[in-house]
Amino acid sequence: VNFNVNKERRYILEVLFNGLRRLEYRGYDSAGISIDSTSDSDSNGCPPPLVFRQEGNIESLVQSVYQEVAATNLNLEESFSTHAGIAHTRWATHGEPAPRNSHPQTSDPGNEFLVAHNGVITNYTVLKETLVRHGFTFESETDTEVIPKLAKFIFDNMNEEGEKIMQFSQVVLEVMRHLEGAYALIFKSRHFPNELIACKRGSPLLLGVKELNEEANIGTSFNDAKFLSSNRQPKELFLSSDASALVEHSKKVLVIEDGEIVHLKDGGASIFKFDDAKGKRHGALTRPPSVQRALSVLEMEVEQINKGNYEHYMQKEIHEQPESLTTTMRGRLIRGGSCKSKSVLLGGLKDHLKTIRRSRRIIFIGCGTSYNAALAARPILEELSGIPVTMEIASDLLDRQGPIYREDTVVFVSQSGETADTLQALDYALENGALCVGITNTVGSAIARKTHCGIHINAGCEIGVASTKAYTSQIVVMAMLALAIGDDTISSQARREAIIDGLFDLPSKVKEVLKLNKEMKDLAQLLIAEQSLLVFGRGYNYATALEGALKVKEVALMHSEGILAGEMKHGPLALVDETLPIVVVATRDACFSKQQSVIQQLHARKGRLIVMCTKGDAASVSVGGSCRIIEVPQVEDCLQPVINIVPLQLLAYHLTVLRGYNVDQPRNLAKSVTTQ
Ligand code: G6P
Repeated sequence: VNFNVNKERRYILEVLFNGLRRLEYRGYDSAGISIDSTSDSDSNGCPPPLVFRQEGNIESLVQSVYQEVAATNLNLEESFSTHAGIAHTRWATHGEPAPRNSHPQTSDPGNEFLVAHNGVITNYTVLKETLVRHGFTFESETDTEVIPKLAKFIFDNMNEEGEKIMQFSQVVLEVMRHLEGAYALIFKSRHFPNELIACKRGSPLLLGVKELNEEANIGTSFNDAKFLSSNRQPKELFLSSDASALVEHSKKVLVIEDGEIVHLKDGGASIFKFDDAKGKRHGALTRPPSVQRALSVLEMEVEQINKGNYEHYMQKEIHEQPESLTTTMRGRLIRGGSCKSKSVLLGGLKDHLKTIRRSRRIIFIGCGTSYNAALAARPILEELSGIPVTMEIASDLLDRQGPIYREDTVVFVSQSGETADTLQALDYALENGALCVGITNTVGSAIARKTHCGIHINAGCEIGVASTKAYTSQIVVMAMLALAIGDDTISSQARREAIIDGLFDLPSKVKEVLKLNKEMKDLAQLLIAEQSLLVFGRGYNYATALEGALKVKEVALMHSEGILAGEMKHGPLALVDETLPIVVVATRDACFSKQQSVIQQLHARKGRLIVMCTKGDAASVSVGGSCRIIEVPQVEDCLQPVINIVPLQLLAYHLTVLRGYNVDQPRNLAKSVTTQ
């Protein structure tokens, strides 16, 4: 954060802490912050900025900072007419969670250069060796520490032309030339008080602009908004990895693009582009061309990122699925009209549908829950499009460098739109000339911007690390994609219309299935001390088995496996005994009778069964009355995974709370995995 109005130290700390609280879901094993030690920065050079770093979550950092403030008599009321502060919450990649590995990382004990980093620097060992040869000593195991040290090295030394580098932005430009990997970086320096420099390549970065003078209306583009480069209007500027930390300050943001450098100084901002090709060995440190681009307006509301009356984000997000699904479908389903009675309208695809219909193959690519959502939608896409649909976990495709052709349509599914593996797979598919379609929940995300076309799922901001409402919205969007692709096939019209009717009814059916909350809490109580849980599904609900098991594993920290019921006899049956709990998804669809025999076979081996069935089917699935039953409402078969996952989400949630674990911040995980 950087501003040009009078603010007290307490305010600066709280703005930074609140920003971290908003971003905590992206990483929560350690955190850090840097502010200035005095407002009087020009006297006797600049005193070193203060740095506080702490292992654990944000609240541990907040506590330790206030303890330190009290111990050192730092005046919280001291007023700053301009100030630049940075903060970071971490999900460890290199080095264990510990204060020395937390960010900001520093160049030296005098904090000449400080850096907060999101991403991974892949050539850090080479840089580190060079810096060590030049006398630098390293205190952390992070890849990040090379960055502030490199900045200091560059600042302290002459450049190749023998000319001393004086500008902050030029130091950063030089640093960027040496870095490989993915990053969004923010630099603060003792030499440049009241200034921040940010730059990015690969990892997300947004600039938020808060106008403090009501009268002054900021322009709609960075070019219009002349004040950004002057400091006449009072304002605060924010840089963040995602919109949730900005929205309470301002809805006007600029999405920073790869290779751009943002310079904030005394509440003014300028942005310019680092041209890698020219920059590499160009020597000259002339200022690159400045950037002019439209500002975006965030559609997010602050209420969306609060818990409201719920105790946890995951609980809130499970319960708001009737509304999130309604928003996902809003304006996209058409019932009535002249020639065709029912159809779907996907504005983001309209110019590409013909190409998609002509493709030889559709490939779904995603990670985690997004992959599972694609798996749930695969059968209906195959049915309505008649095109072979294959599935790829992003990292696996990259490991194999699997073949992708120009005739392929590749669909990238990602809640955040920033997952590093998925993004890299997207680059790979683009290089191979395929048509790339994005399905994401994040407007302006890298996947939304890099794909040729796409559909936003509009599920609203999802904060709980375990994805819930995004999963159901993704399935619905992909069902709509199947309807749109199949729209020119007369023979499937009745089927399509039945699905559209089913989509209209879906939110009310989800409301109905949410009434199982108490029943799932009771079931969780029963399973609280178990070591393991298996979930069997097939057909449309193979994905339900994988996703249900993933939820239990992620948050309740209980081993859980989703099993394709058709494979039961080829291994998993060996695990079955009278103690291991097994959930069998056996709702009505074409696979129902096969699932009935699976239940029989599990029962014959004394399996401890919990059967999910369609309302009214309890007698047909409960062998000898011995199973525990979860009855769910019936919907169109391809939409049934949306209903069936809800009780399993509730089960995972209650198991976690009852077992005493942190629902929204499961051990070792992060919401957006922006590193590989
Ligand atoms: C992480 C999250 C998962 C998520 C996966 C893919 O592993 O913890 O909840 O499903 O990333 O994320 P994306 O944003 O690409 O859907």
